[in-house]
Amino acid sequence: MNLIQKIHGNDEHTHDGQPHTHRAPFWVRYYDTIVGVATFGRARKMHESTLQLAQLQSGESILDIGCGTGKLIFAAEKVVGLGGTAVGLDVEPGMIAQAKANAARTHSHATFGVASIIEIPYPDNSFDVVTSSLVYHHLNQAEKVAGLQEVMRVLKPNGRFLIVDLNPTRRGLAVRLPGHNQLAQEDYVSREVVEQLAAAGFASITAGAHPFNQLSYALGVKDA
Ligand SMILES: C[S@@+](CC[C@H](N)C(=O)[O-])C[C@H]1O[C@@H](n2cnc3c(N)ncnc32)[C@H](O)[C@@H]1O
Repeated sequence: MNLIQKIHGNDEHTHDGQPHTHRAPFWVRYYDTIVGVATFGRARKMHESTLQLAQLQSGESILDIGCGTGKLIFAAEKVVGLGGTAVGLDVEPGMIAQAKANAARTHSHATFGVASIIEIPYPDNSFDVVTSSLVYHHLNQAEKVAGLQEVMRVLKPNGRFLIVDLNPTRRGLAVRLPGHNQLAQEDYVSREVVEQLAAAGFASITAGAHPFNQLSYALGVKDA
């Protein structure tokens, strides 16, 4: 098994609807370094672009679901300021342990916790913005449907949900990842994700190319 396979975990890909297995792999502590290398040192720029697509404003509350080691939430924290709220959740305890270690090192006020997108431990109407970056293609069909319902529930009226994921039609890294043959066929964000956002009841859906090469986004709004 090569490094990319270890990072992505062959057995975690459930395009066929099979259940996930989540472990706390040793490489979590190297995740940030690996992302830094994979993005040619532009990870911060990538996160800032994502937050601009989500139209995040000062004073808002944001949840990043599947937050990994927390880097998007640390960038979000700077945008929302002390008047806002920044929360990161991930189903993988090892990722959250690393996010908390990163938060302690940088004196972050962000909150992190272990949870799946299918059971978000927050009340209805809690967040102005929910983001999910490079997570959606890990989810099986049932998780996508249940996850969209959960995100809809925790969003405030007029709240935005931004999904960012690989766009293999722009080539590069995605087509080389094991278990991504299906994704390599098309820009599934612009088709499948948009359809599922609409089916879940999101309005004003937009989608397109992320400023960061090889990524696409889809954005939906919860009706007031
Ligand atoms: C490729 S990483 C992306 C991490 C981070 N969002 C980023 O952009 O660097 C995918 C993350 O999704 C998380 N994940 C997978 N299934 C999930 C689920 N059902 N609910 C929440 N997080 C999930 C994994 O644990 C992992 O941390």
